[in-house]
Amino acid sequence: MCGIFGYLGPRNDAAHMALLGLKNLEYRGYDSWGVACKTDHHLEIEKHIGKISEVTNLKTELEQADTHLAIGHSRWATHGGVTENNAHPHLSQNGKIAIVHNGIIENYLELREELSAKGFKFVSETDTETIGHLIEFYYQGNFEQAFAKAIQRLQGRYAVLAIHKDHNLILAARKGSPLIVGVGSTENEFFIGSDVPAFLQYTNRVMYLDDDQMVIIGENGAYFLEISTKQVVEKRIITLDLDLESAEKGSFPHFMIKEIMEQKETIQRAINQDTKTIEILAEAIRKAHGTFFIGCGTAGKVALAGSYLFSRIAKKHVNFTFGSEFASYQDFLNEKALLVCISQSGETADTLEAIEVAKKKGVTVASIVNVESSTMARTSDIVLPIKAGPEKAVASTKATTSQLAILTLLAYATANRLKEGQYLLVSTAGEINDMLNPRYEDHIRKLADQIKEVESMYIIGKGLNYAIALEAAIKLQEVSYIHAEGFAGGELKHGPIALISQGTPCIAIVANDETKADILGNAMEVKARGGYIIGISPDNSEIFDYWIKVPDGGNTSPIVNIIPIQILAYHLAIVRKNNPDMPRNLAKSVTVK
Ligand code: G6P
Repeated sequence: MCGIFGYLGPRNDAAHMALLGLKNLEYRGYDSWGVACKTDHHLEIEKHIGKISEVTNLKTELEQADTHLAIGHSRWATHGGVTENNAHPHLSQNGKIAIVHNGIIENYLELREELSAKGFKFVSETDTETIGHLIEFYYQGNFEQAFAKAIQRLQGRYAVLAIHKDHNLILAARKGSPLIVGVGSTENEFFIGSDVPAFLQYTNRVMYLDDDQMVIIGENGAYFLEISTKQVVEKRIITLDLDLESAEKGSFPHFMIKEIMEQKETIQRAINQDTKTIEILAEAIRKAHGTFFIGCGTAGKVALAGSYLFSRIAKKHVNFTFGSEFASYQDFLNEKALLVCISQSGETADTLEAIEVAKKKGVTVASIVNVESSTMARTSDIVLPIKAGPEKAVASTKATTSQLAILTLLAYATANRLKEGQYLLVSTAGEINDMLNPRYEDHIRKLADQIKEVESMYIIGKGLNYAIALEAAIKLQEVSYIHAEGFAGGELKHGPIALISQGTPCIAIVANDETKADILGNAMEVKARGGYIIGISPDNSEIFDYWIKVPDGGNTSPIVNIIPIQILAYHLAIVRKNNPDMPRNLAKSVTVK
């Protein structure tokens, strides 16, 4: 979603720093971007549509401007098309206030009408523009007061930054959308970003802004306040265990393939953690009257896989829903229920909203997250970090397998067989390490080359691997833009088989378990209708037209089986000349509903 950057401090190239900060956030997805800075007593703005990746310098005099205060924004359009006018920063009517904003102002139409009646003119179609006008309306010389008054009028989820031409301040507020303050190395140097990579090259010391709070960043420090009471909130400076290198591509051409290859270590890292929290969550699952696994996108598919793992390993029924569908189950929630949220970013709006629904009913909330400093982690009662390191490619890969590994471990722990689970996962991690070699990648690259022109492809799985068929489909859609659909193998004959024609690729995920004969039978039905069968399996079969060997993972088959499909999706993207790291229309962290 939108990226936000702000800087106030002794350096004198703040506008250029804003450009660099936005470039570091480009993995979040965007369609336009802009920077505003304060020079003496002016606000200067530069905005563009399109990619920031190739831009090395700002195009206007902002590049050379001697400025210590700037804000920047990369936009993922929600209200209004992708135009320069709709790009942020937005100015208030008198041009004295500049705003950047992430989220959605739900009552913006009402506010727009009210402000129009007072004579304010709107030049964009965005909800954001109302914020600048509102601050201008309330402004009587005190910027902080006007900002707080305006923010209290907003409904919805937002992270907002505002600057004023007459004040050396950055004001920021949040509700449901992340904002993190970075504390610089020199005195009174502050950064603010929607995600830590925005300023990680300068500092890893941070303070978190929480919902309904604002921060006043000025030359004398950063002050946090509760917006409604104006009460000062003391914040602790937290030093994050993140380094720049792990957030860079290194020698890899793209983050996606770098992150796929990192699975040599990340699965091991995921399971190598303090078992205390695993045991605490396992105990909570054993005791709960109603456990719900939720997630969105890939994390949603992992949550579904989790429900199968629990049924198979822990003999325990858990409910699965996508985060966006959870509210429909609220009548079944009480203080004895347990919600387990799965999320890479920990900032997905639909999952965060599910947490709000659950909390209102007194439900215990656990989260399995990658970003340990995220809103989800900070609002959960129990947190299991997956320790995958920064995942920057939009399509999730290493976070997926780490989440699956943690859920597998948790299922074993719930069955009081934690040691057995650890042993199995350590052995799977070793086999994945051996599997991810250049020859293996090349074998899959050849397949990508062979099927690059197809219009549609299908993926079938059963049992533990049904969710993997669904995840495979979105992986392929996200970066190759080929129409791909995943099915439970047994469902094919009830409709989808009508879509199979001569040469249609169908990936059959064949685990070495009791589902094997059925899935091979389903693959046979596709083959009989002209389908081209790509088998992902520990063993070859005469049914397969192309075989991709995977280790025999037993209950870890979902982990091993998704990896070759991630590699296939990556190479299909490359051969079809798509950018796998930044797929069209998608964003890494979906902070709007
Ligand atoms: C977006 C991303 C997906 C991700 C989903 C959920 O759609 O493109 O890769 O699976 O959000 O994100 P989360 O951070 O909650 O795992």
